[in-house]
Amino acid sequence: MTFEKIHKQAVSEWEALQSSSKPRLLVGAGTCGSAAGAMDVLKVINEELARQNIEAIVIQVGCMGLCFAEPMMGIVKPGHPQVIYGNLTPEIATQIVKDYLVADNPRADLALGYAGDGKADGIPNLFELPVLKPQVRVVLHNCGFIDPENINHYIANGGYSGLVKALKMSPEAIIEEIKKSGLRGRGGAGFSTGQKWDFCRKAPGREKYIICNADEGDPGAFMNRSLLEGDPHSVLEGMAIGAYTIGANQGYIYCRAEYPLALERLRLALRQMEEYGFIGDNILGSGFDFHLKIKEGAGAFVCGEETALMASIEGKRGMPRSRPPFPAISGLWGKPTNINNVETWADTARILQKGSEWYAGYGSEKSKGTKTFALVGKVERTGLIEVPLGITLRQIIYEIGGGILKGKEFKAVQTGGPSGGCLPPSMLDSPVDYESLAAAGSIMGSGGMIVADEDTCMVDLTKYFLNFTQAESCGKCPPCRVGTRQMLGILDRITRGEGKPEDIAQLERIAITVKQGSLCGLGQTAPNPVLTTIRYFRNEYEAHINEKRCPARVCKNLISFYILPDKCQGCMICLRACPVEAITGDKRMIHIIDQDKCIKCGTCTDVCPPRFAAITKVSGEQIEVPQQPVPIEASA
Ligand SMILES: Cc1cc2nc3c(=O)[nH]c(=O)nc-3n(C[C@H](O)[C@H](O)[C@H](O)COP(=O)(O)O)c2cc1C
Ligand code: SF4
Ligand code: SF4
Ligand code: SF4
Repeated sequence: MTFEKIHKQAVSEWEALQSSSKPRLLVGAGTCGSAAGAMDVLKVINEELARQNIEAIVIQVGCMGLCFAEPMMGIVKPGHPQVIYGNLTPEIATQIVKDYLVADNPRADLALGYAGDGKADGIPNLFELPVLKPQVRVVLHNCGFIDPENINHYIANGGYSGLVKALKMSPEAIIEEIKKSGLRGRGGAGFSTGQKWDFCRKAPGREKYIICNADEGDPGAFMNRSLLEGDPHSVLEGMAIGAYTIGANQGYIYCRAEYPLALERLRLALRQMEEYGFIGDNILGSGFDFHLKIKEGAGAFVCGEETALMASIEGKRGMPRSRPPFPAISGLWGKPTNINNVETWADTARILQKGSEWYAGYGSEKSKGTKTFALVGKVERTGLIEVPLGITLRQIIYEIGGGILKGKEFKAVQTGGPSGGCLPPSMLDSPVDYESLAAAGSIMGSGGMIVADEDTCMVDLTKYFLNFTQAESCGKCPPCRVGTRQMLGILDRITRGEGKPEDIAQLERIAITVKQGSLCGLGQTAPNPVLTTIRYFRNEYEAHINEKRCPARVCKNLISFYILPDKCQGCMICLRACPVEAITGDKRMIHIIDQDKCIKCGTCTDVCPPRFAAITKVSGEQIEVPQQPVPIEASA
């Protein structure tokens, strides 16, 4: 079948769906949605539809990015725009089906917004909401709106037109187009994608490979997983374009086994591509052959490093090797290989579909286009976001993220995952692009963005990241293997209140040695959290070391819990909840905490009724309290 025919069929299927007389329900059922309870919602919706005798089309879609509002569902009634609801429970979802589908009340009070043409009374336009307004959806445009398991939905929305266009162009012209778009690798290093393709195309050798890096090992990152779950064909189209351009007839998708839904959708998508002739021999009659295999990774962070990843595909232990030779010259099985990130591949498909000028219209001078981020931590609205590069951290955290959770103070943002740096409030107006982040001592990384509030101890947070990189170091080179362990040991001592004045300089010395002496990016970037927190939060290190005080009141060895005599009402709730019986008291008696018994679990603070708020957590200070429980009246 020709592409024109395939496209025509897909469009008519899509249009029939859009103009169907049946209502459509789109349930966000990616991993995040399912974890939030989407499957329970799905079940009750189907039951309610059956009970009400409503013929409706129910589609499971991927993540729309508003993870804070999962589980979510969109309802399209014929002739109306889609109304999107969030924070669903099975009860609320059932009620919405009854109210909107049966009684024609769209429940504006429960709706997040509407999407599509037309208006919905009393419901705002979803894309005008602060969380979405600053965003630009280039690679995520289909996520949450099409059925990721239906290739026709992808095709009807412009999918595979990029491949068709590419097959009519010369590889050199495609490389030129990608170079003009300014696209830089979204996996972390930010190398020009066009240049990378050029190197591999020009590398001598008839047999070449391309690889999609879907390892995504950064804790807190889920951009690649969401894209693969929500729109797998966008990545596969990009790979087919890349293979044709480079002259590769074989490729691999390296995806961690912990992503079962992404893997399932990739397998299905590959079968659909085969059926339509988008993959295999003689693709769309062009004479170009391309075969793609999926390789499941075991989930080691270092296997995301390109040379380790290739070793892993070859069945060897996933350990990085020194470069040169670069993969473009000698990669998988010693053949020229081009490896790109999931998002990079999806970007290339969009660039071919819509043109380099369109893509380069977004972003800043040296960092063009958009980038997805997993915005997590202490923000009101966590989620998967896509923003034009050059946007400021403040816009991301305050406009899109809705500010800091519970109105607390912003303390830091970690960009680039465990290998990135922690940036302080003074950096909030920095643009998010490769150069600005590097100048601040951090990195773009693959898109993890973790926000910390005033209750976060920066030394403790650094210890957390170091713990991760130390455990994930493959151990090949001593500076990385030994240095990360040494730094972790010092950080641990400092948080225990056993730091020495020379520790900060020592940490800096080791950090530089590890950076300079390490073979791969893991070791070269592992010290970033240490160096940036010393640079921007030195006072916290000093307080721990010199005053044995944790300013954020996090480090257990340096904090104490006290019951404030003038606030305690003798209700005995904390006494009953304390797991180690460290609290003594009686009814209408001021309770006291035995400091020697207390394990600093914080349970008493959590259970003391907020109207009393009688328990305080201190660091570096002592509170005057009675030695024994005394009657409340006696102390008044
Ligand atoms: C320890 C380590 C882990 C990495 N993990 C990933 C990953 O999960 N996904 C990814 O695309 N790149 C990862 N990278 C970067 C890759 O080595 C490589 O630069 C990237 O896949 C190239 O694709 P791009 O040019 O599209 O960014 C990692 C690098 C290091 C050093
Ligand atoms: S830097 Fe660390 S992770 Fe990378 S090769 Fe050396 S020991 Fe292994
Ligand atoms: S912090 Fe935990 S151990 Fe200590 S007094 Fe409170 S409940 Fe008991
Ligand atoms: S829960 Fe609060 S008010 Fe009640 S006894 Fe404990 S400290 Fe006092």
